[in-house]
Amino acid sequence: MIYYTKNRNRGMKMADITNIAWQDFARLSLEEKVPYLSRGDGDAMPYHTLFAQQFDRGLLERLCTLANRIRFINKSKEGALYLKNVLAHKRAMLYFSQPSSRTFLSHLAACQILGITTGSVRDAATSSEFKGESHEDSIRTFSSYFDMIIMRSPEQGLAEKMAWELSNSERPVPILNAGSGKDQHPTQALLDIYTLIRSFETKGGIDGRTVVFCGDLKRGRTVRSLSYLLTNFNDIQQVFVAPGELQVPDDVTDILKEKGVRYEIGNDLKAATKTADAVYMTRIQDEWDNAKGESAKIDTRAFKFGAEELALLGKDAIIMHPLPRRDEIATCCDHDPRAMYWRQMRNGMWIRAALIATVFGFEKTIMECGY
Ligand code: NCD
Repeated sequence: MIYYTKNRNRGMKMADITNIAWQDFARLSLEEKVPYLSRGDGDAMPYHTLFAQQFDRGLLERLCTLANRIRFINKSKEGALYLKNVLAHKRAMLYFSQPSSRTFLSHLAACQILGITTGSVRDAATSSEFKGESHEDSIRTFSSYFDMIIMRSPEQGLAEKMAWELSNSERPVPILNAGSGKDQHPTQALLDIYTLIRSFETKGGIDGRTVVFCGDLKRGRTVRSLSYLLTNFNDIQQVFVAPGELQVPDDVTDILKEKGVRYEIGNDLKAATKTADAVYMTRIQDEWDNAKGESAKIDTRAFKFGAEELALLGKDAIIMHPLPRRDEIATCCDHDPRAMYWRQMRNGMWIRAALIATVFGFEKTIMECGY
């Protein structure tokens, strides 16, 4: 049951998250939740950014175009100063109750580019949650002082619950999911798509490519979010290479089946590398082990990218990794021009700046400014 309301300004019908009980909202499929999370002004761009299903090709291309624009404007001092003024009237809270380096720092840097002042909690032990405060109360506290909450949590679905809570409060500030449990990592998937688009821009584009995912595909949230975003493009084949115990879960392949996307499941990284346009390596996510040492018992030797794999990789293909890495990409690959993980990391800052500017309604202003 979708509850629609008439948008005051444009007479357009939008699903209204303030008209639906949490239990009813929670029961909806991700696709059914999407209209409740958009800006509500007739634009499908997310207000709360919670999962990959909120983005279609048009929205992804808009964000990549804006990211390119921001990156260009930021090159000159005048341009950088202009950008620093765009959101100087906004404050953002970075609420990270799970370890993070890149996601935290790139969101922070994105805020700095746009002039947003930030506050942060990086460890629940330093916030009142440690005294037994509920997530709901913590988030309402943050929303009293800040205009956006960028949050990472080990709990699947928590960002969604917090988005519903805030939208139904007197301070309905937007939530940006910076990683929710083993579930989703939408902004990582945005930067991965941005990296793919940029890498193939002058080489015939992203359509028709083969993307190989390798490593811990069962518990890696970046894989779930990126696999979904790739379905927005034409004829992209997805290949999942992992030990049986860590193979991609059914919910990911069910979507591919439903959308008629070609995919393969296997365990031969060398063979997959030969056919790949992009190899997306991932770390073993042993923090999710049910029993101590569970992952260490899995033979992962065949799921590492080294000199032999590099020799098999096509000349225009790229190597990606959300990072942090352990030994799944040998350091001898680091200076190869096809190693895209360093650029991927920096792309994260630009695409997050584009997303934040868009959430606050400043996409057009930046696109049309004179710089
Ligand atoms: C990933 C994450 O946290 O899911 N890291 C990141 O955000 N760049 C991947 C990982 O931790 O392996």
